[in-house]
Amino acid sequence: MKSRIFVHRNFIIDKVEDNIFGGFIEHLGRAVYSGIYEPSHPTADENGFRNDVKELVRDLNMPVTRYPGGNFVSGFNWQDAIGPQSERPVRADYAWKGIEPNTVGIDEFMKWCRDVNTTPIYTVNLGTNTPKAAQEIVEYCNFHGGSYWSDKRIANGSEKPHNIKYWCLGNEMDGDWQIGHKTPEEYGRIAHEAAKMMKMVDPDIILCACGSSSCQMPTFAKWDEEIMLHLYNDVDYLSIHRYFGNCDRNFPKFFACPEELDRQIECAVSCCDTAGAKLKSNKKIMISLDEWNVWYRGKSVVPGVAPWEYGSPILEETYDMADVIVTGGALLSMIDHADRLKMACIAQTVNVIAPIMTVKGGKAWKQSIYYPLLETSRYGRGYAMRVINDSPEYEINEGFYTGKVKYLRSSVVLRNEQKEITVFAINRANEEMVFSAELAGFDLTGVAGAVEIHNDDLDAVNSPEQENVASKDIPASRYSLNGNTLESKLKPCSWNMFRVSFK
Ligand code: AHR
Repeated sequence: MKSRIFVHRNFIIDKVEDNIFGGFIEHLGRAVYSGIYEPSHPTADENGFRNDVKELVRDLNMPVTRYPGGNFVSGFNWQDAIGPQSERPVRADYAWKGIEPNTVGIDEFMKWCRDVNTTPIYTVNLGTNTPKAAQEIVEYCNFHGGSYWSDKRIANGSEKPHNIKYWCLGNEMDGDWQIGHKTPEEYGRIAHEAAKMMKMVDPDIILCACGSSSCQMPTFAKWDEEIMLHLYNDVDYLSIHRYFGNCDRNFPKFFACPEELDRQIECAVSCCDTAGAKLKSNKKIMISLDEWNVWYRGKSVVPGVAPWEYGSPILEETYDMADVIVTGGALLSMIDHADRLKMACIAQTVNVIAPIMTVKGGKAWKQSIYYPLLETSRYGRGYAMRVINDSPEYEINEGFYTGKVKYLRSSVVLRNEQKEITVFAINRANEEMVFSAELAGFDLTGVAGAVEIHNDDLDAVNSPEQENVASKDIPASRYSLNGNTLESKLKPCSWNMFRVSFK
């Protein structure tokens, strides 16, 4: 099979926002307790955070991390998790049937954030809590001092404000599973009041409204347009969520998930723009995909794991080679929508449906999906280029996206500072692909690097003992640069990246 792409230096979509490489830490399962936080671990720092985990998170270079939920947040009182740790209440977490000791709260989390060079996207509880509670956490975190809550922060050891910039107005409020689920009217009203009151404390914060939690929701799109009519002037982002599944083991359909994401992002943009048109507003709302991943195996009820424990191994998904194709492709969908998709968080970062896993008391290790995330975060920052993709196609007849799917999924990022063009190429065909990329308008000087992620077995997975799916250098004998054309042979069902230098 042969596929080729064409790009021209002058055809740019937009800057790829660094914030699309974000993560997510929820108080759920082993994400916090025995994930990022394990005071008895040999690598634990003075605050109880695991240094081995920090190292792997740091390598992913996640500029933002959503926190503290997720569904958890809709039953959470932020005030429970501040002050002396020994005095904090232990609560039942009704979202996940867990026990929350509140040992880690916002002050501890901020220390972790500083260590891993990330900044939180803090989600306020609009399920069971009030706009007043949302206002008060902004006062606790961002007010300089001399008020009740800011003085509490100072007394708790943080003299300087945390200055949290990004805030989500609740989590998945359209879903009946959510504690305190709302109608669009109810949500629009409470979120508007919360936004107004939060901005009274700190007018510089940036807010994100809760969009449809999936494109399967019966209220999908209607919800988004309606809530945006309430929140258009309050927020800069609409949040969407997307989890991909492969229960029926239909690989052609699974590999088309990036096309489903394309469509979901475009629908979210349409809803925002329709609301904007109705309001006669010039403002453009950006999209934040603040939960995304493959998720269909990890269960919240695990045989042999009793509920009402803390740090239980729930939602622990083992990722394989097939998931590399889909998560890698989802990242390319985000790059291709660089003009409107400005923030994204893989859900989640550690242990819970995550690229990084830990053994309690033992090692931290990387799942297969760690690698496309790592490489795209390293080399996918720059300017997204318009790609003309001439690839054979197949047809998908069911799902959120139906129609033609190109066997090749490819995105190109122009990195002016590095004088490099990154060419991403995912071969979704079960056969070798002869790939060529014509990079017009450049004075090319060579290939600075090429890597692939491939395993003949789509079910291949990593474990603490063995790494079967990882990025590997492609030997120079397998690619060439002739004038402005890069050529290579891509292995069946493989993820590939070429970095081409220019003058
Ligand atoms: O990430 C796991 C869960 O998925 C989150 O808590 C929730 O927001 C979503 O449904």
